[in-house]
Amino acid sequence: MNCNYLAFEGIDGSGKTTLINELSAELSKASIDFKIVREPGGTKLSEGIRDLLLSHDFEVNPTAEALLFSASRAQLVQEVVKPSIENGQVVITDRSAYSSVAYQGVGRGLGYKNVYELNDFAISSYWPEKVVLLDIDPEISLSRQKIADRIGSDKVSFFNKVRDGYLQLAEDFSDKFLVINAEDSKEENFTKVSEWLDLAKS
Ligand code: TYD
Repeated sequence: MNCNYLAFEGIDGSGKTTLINELSAELSKASIDFKIVREPGGTKLSEGIRDLLLSHDFEVNPTAEALLFSASRAQLVQEVVKPSIENGQVVITDRSAYSSVAYQGVGRGLGYKNVYELNDFAISSYWPEKVVLLDIDPEISLSRQKIADRIGSDKVSFFNKVRDGYLQLAEDFSDKFLVINAEDSKEENFTKVSEWLDLAKS
């Protein structure tokens, strides 16, 4: 495997979790020591912030939303991600700071650059080394969702902006991003991810 810190990204309902589960089965078979984390969440504080962010009980303005996501992430990266990687584990994250650039920066309109910089500060520039982006038309992904949280229940127009944000990130960081079509079969996509990560050589 050619990377120690890998993120899966995509709009709600894009199928990240399925792919992460397949990858983790493969890594276990190859006896690779890894850890899976999710954002927001992954520490006691970050899970508390997650509850605040995703509950339908609060009205959260976009700036507060961006700051809460970045606070949750600051704790996770310091407490779990960095120490695990320093101890030789591979960390796979279900979402990362790139989610904030796409959702809060572009989707909510706070600005791509502003939210990138806010997160760069929050994580002391400790960005994922590689990112798998599952790209999909929001009309399709949203229809797959069963129960939507506060952010996942936003309008299709919001998710179209988020998607544009992701595609912009993939263009700006083309050396880090693998963009796959989330409508292709699971098998096809898993093969692409495995080849890109050089899993066969592990
Ligand atoms: P989650 O249940 O993890 O959704 P998913 O299964 O789609 O990953 O909920 C995370 C929600 O929070 C999701 O709607 C995306 C959103 N989000 C942001 O808006 N900004 C962020 O920085 C992160 C990490 C998530």
